[in-house]
Amino acid sequence: MKRKILVVDDDTAIVEVLEMRLNAMGYDVTATADPQAAIAAADGTRFDLALIDLRMEPTDGIALMEAVHGRQPRLPVLIMTAHGTIETAVDAVQRGAFDYLTKPFLRDELRAKIARALASRRWARDRERLLTVGQTLASSGIMARVLDAVAQGAVETTEADRCVVFQLEHGRLVPMASAGSPPPSWPALEAAAAAAMTKGLPVTFPGSETGAIVAAPLVVQKGPTGALVIETARGIEPNEDDLELLALFSSQAAVAVRTTHELEGLRSGALAALGRMATQVAHELKNPLAGLRLYARHLEQRLGKGGDAEGVGLAQKITSTVDHLAAVVQEITAFGRPPELHRAPASVHALLDECLSFAQAKCETPDIEVFRAYDAACPTAPLDVRELRKAFLNLVLNGLEALAPGGRLTVTTGYSSETRTVTIVIEDTGVGMSEETLGRIFDLFFTTKPQGTGLGMAVARSVVDLHGGELTIHSTLGKGTRVNVRLPLEPPPPPAGGAGA
Ligand SMILES: Nc1ncnc2c1ncn2[C@@H]1O[C@H](COP(=O)(O)OP(=O)(O)OP(=O)(O)O)[C@@H](O)[C@H]1O
Ligand SMILES: [Mg+2]
Repeated sequence: MKRKILVVDDDTAIVEVLEMRLNAMGYDVTATADPQAAIAAADGTRFDLALIDLRMEPTDGIALMEAVHGRQPRLPVLIMTAHGTIETAVDAVQRGAFDYLTKPFLRDELRAKIARALASRRWARDRERLLTVGQTLASSGIMARVLDAVAQGAVETTEADRCVVFQLEHGRLVPMASAGSPPPSWPALEAAAAAAMTKGLPVTFPGSETGAIVAAPLVVQKGPTGALVIETARGIEPNEDDLELLALFSSQAAVAVRTTHELEGLRSGALAALGRMATQVAHELKNPLAGLRLYARHLEQRLGKGGDAEGVGLAQKITSTVDHLAAVVQEITAFGRPPELHRAPASVHALLDECLSFAQAKCETPDIEVFRAYDAACPTAPLDVRELRKAFLNLVLNGLEALAPGGRLTVTTGYSSETRTVTIVIEDTGVGMSEETLGRIFDLFFTTKPQGTGLGMAVARSVVDLHGGELTIHSTLGKGTRVNVRLPLEPPPPPAGGAGA
């Protein structure tokens, strides 16, 4: 495929000479003395290089270069100038020209500068491509995000109008991500994707309007599992370079997809294994901890009898530390076997107050406001306060921990006598969460805090679930988080067939 060069000079003699010489060097030349015609050409054809005269009437070369760059931002431009105007040529380079050529042209200089400009175009494209792909690979995680980055990267590196990533799901091609303008025709893109997958190589089709569709298979494991399809609608013919570029890009995209698959698999597998191990370890710790607590109490009593007040204090510290450890262990083992609820009449508001005052005492951030808006109609109800305390304490603590000085935490309740349900809303004006954090918030051991265990939300949800309720979260990064807990005040009815027997 010949490289395309645009030549613009208001001196027709120079236009002719250059056209002849560049043709002889093997380039595909569009040469004109009319700047408007040059702009029109740049609208319809993608060039690899432009040679533009500096001094032209009425448009000067720099203005024309800027107009062309408006259409093809990365097109290298060589500005042509006579000897007297080197300074302006330097200015042209500062404004985006790749280099300048002095008239009259020396054959070697012409050849060398053109070769260098063409190479730079390729190099710039390669560099950008690698950068985009690198970023894609680095952004491990959520598949949808990886595919979006792939589509976006493909549009940017190939200068196509749009890109769609298809994946084969249950025998059907499903568009998973897209970038650029919406396609005028989906079937055309789908057909190209199917053809590329069958062939196992990039394919080119005429576009639905005037352009072209290029599709490259996405080979993730053994065979193609989808395709990367780009479309150009500007009468641009993709050349071999473009096909090669897309093939490379799609193979990199496939690596990203595979990595994400593997990571997701690993993450859930590892989490499950970690959860099992933690439960086992916790179980093994339970009895020795009970023993340790007994010895510490013993020690405390003996030291007390001997009148050693300092020793008694130390022994008490051991006891309370052991109690704390036992509580953690209890929490971890709870995952192996969800606790049975021990319901007793309790007040939701008293429980919330208790959690708030404990959490506020723990929180070190200054200047924090805490608001309560309780619905006085909310009655006492049979609840497991011990379990619910863990849940609400964590929700309130999370809210407070998310706040910066000057932040606000609001706890609201609302009672519906019709459904006998209380809705508790815990809202903070804190850091909020990214989509990724939000997506993993209930994962065991997922935490973004240096001292966090990442168990809080998982515990909270399981406790609310056990009560037959529902916990939902809304969060905006940088703005804050709202947690809704819908809690039925009656135990759920016994399973069908159990009642009235
Ligand atoms: N209100 C909130 N605002 C911002 N991020 C939150 C909020 N609540 C939870 N998160 C995010 O979710 C993560 C998991 O929360 P979770 O309560 O499960 O664990 P943790 O608070 O990190 O540790 P711990 O087990 O001690 O509670 C937190 O690390 C934090 O990134
Ligand atoms: Mg927490």
